[in-house]
Amino acid sequence: MNELDTGVLKTRGFSRPLRLLTPEQCMVFMRHWRAVENRQAKGWESKLVALGDPVFHDIATRPQLLELLRAALGDDVVLWGASVQVREPGQEHRWHSDAETCGGDGYASVWIGLEGTCRETSLAMIPKSHLYGVSIQQAKAEKGSRAASDAELLKLAQAFDAAAQIEQPDVADGEALLFDGRLWHGSYNASDTVRYALLLQYARADMVVKTPERYDWPFAYREELPAVLPVLGACAQAGNPLAPPPADPAAFRTLPAVQHQLPMPLAGDRKKGWKPHEIAEGRTANLTFNHFHASVLEPGHSPHPPHAHVEEEVLIVLDGTAELLLGSADPEQAQVHHARPGSFSWYPAYFPHTIRNMSDRPVTYLMFKWYGPPIETARQAQGGTVNFGSPVPGSEPLPAKGMRSERVFEQPTAYLTRLHAHVTDIDPGRGYGMHADEHDVAIIVFSGSIRANGVVLEPGGVFYFPAGELHGMENVGATRARYLVFEFHGGTPDFARATETIDRTRRTGTSLRRTPAFVAPVKHRTDGKHRPWISRVVNRIGKAVSAPLNRKIERVVDRRLAELGGQPPRR
Ligand SMILES: [Fe+2]
Ligand SMILES: [Fe+2]
Ligand SMILES: [Fe+2]
Repeated sequence: MNELDTGVLKTRGFSRPLRLLTPEQCMVFMRHWRAVENRQAKGWESKLVALGDPVFHDIATRPQLLELLRAALGDDVVLWGASVQVREPGQEHRWHSDAETCGGDGYASVWIGLEGTCRETSLAMIPKSHLYGVSIQQAKAEKGSRAASDAELLKLAQAFDAAAQIEQPDVADGEALLFDGRLWHGSYNASDTVRYALLLQYARADMVVKTPERYDWPFAYREELPAVLPVLGACAQAGNPLAPPPADPAAFRTLPAVQHQLPMPLAGDRKKGWKPHEIAEGRTANLTFNHFHASVLEPGHSPHPPHAHVEEEVLIVLDGTAELLLGSADPEQAQVHHARPGSFSWYPAYFPHTIRNMSDRPVTYLMFKWYGPPIETARQAQGGTVNFGSPVPGSEPLPAKGMRSERVFEQPTAYLTRLHAHVTDIDPGRGYGMHADEHDVAIIVFSGSIRANGVVLEPGGVFYFPAGELHGMENVGATRARYLVFEFHGGTPDFARATETIDRTRRTGTSLRRTPAFVAPVKHRTDGKHRPWISRVVNRIGKAVSAPLNRKIERVVDRRLAELGGQPPRR
């Protein structure tokens, strides 16, 4: 993370571009934003309401960002605005100063490019204009100016500072500009793609934030002060009423990158028969909730009778031999599968399952349990057991790069466009460089010593990299290593774009038939592999892409949501 030169923010009024998110994190944010239905109805167009959403909240309270704000504004900081700014090609947001923050130097806005960000689409600003003592609106009114173009604006600014110039920084997706809201600024999308930016607006806690009624000079404000959300410090001297923190802290806890070594053999509990060891849980950009733990099951025990639930699970045996009862709530009717190190079991949502230990040794297993926004309208999927071979790698020569991966499982699920698993063998000294993925990834070490992001894990080691997190990997041991990887792929961009299109057509009343997001899936409707959700719906309902189809799609989605929501997911 770049350091913020707070001096520059004070003297010039804005920072240079700072890298805040990886491009993959931008993609997963946009996918999430697009997939949220009825943003307008939910009040997301108003400035603070979107903060009730964990993905917005996560970005607005990222530690690096909070440290920048501490440097700029001090120890008590509130957030009063969070919104996605969409600029169509050719669209202009005329020159202005922010009416909300013209009252002093205790405000900072953070503009983060998310998609289509480049010099042609970034903010245009006049350095030092925050020190003129007047907003653009006031300057224009007092000088009787109707300045609108860049040249006219610059002339107006030069009346305050003869050296005034317009600057338009070259910003990339994931980079942020911090600026003082008094700054003279505007934007014009001179590119041919839509630009999306996240605007987060903060204030020193003791500053008053008012809601404008008039954005022209003289500004007029509503009497009632809007609520603001504390993000740093206790904010005891707040100028505005404080909004309560997000309702359920658990739902807002972001799953960090996890590097966890289970001490094998893991301790059991003879008396109780079953001992869980929590590892981590939290929300990721792809999943509303993912929880993982390891358990030791003593001989003759089972943790519960067969059950079925809204979450999906995989169970990976690390040690011992387990019996899995699958597919029926009646143990007599259930299929019995045997699982040992080298196999895992997969339980789709609402698929009956349990585990029992009929051997004379403890069984140790690792479990991932998750749910997310439902995306799959297919029939109820079947669970089963996957044998991926031995927990130890083979000895035959590996390809030139010293690594070989074999896919062992891949399936769409109720919450994932793809749940994928592969096994990788890797020779000493081999690996791959730092990168980020659009999906969450879990890596379970079975043999050897694997180092990722500076941490070395051995058998019983678990890495988890949420989507967008940078990670690399290397075999740092003296022998060949083997690990099992699960990839959790969230909603597709196609699905997200389709949802956005529905939103837009609803607002504008245009026909879906003409929108590329719908034409493309129809064209590719045989290509179910990559577009499972949308192509299935389109296949089922037929070729006609029209307003009635739009409503049918919504009904299918609503029904599926109702089915899955029969038992409200744990939040
Ligand atoms: Fe603005
Ligand atoms: Fe379960
Ligand atoms: Fe990766």
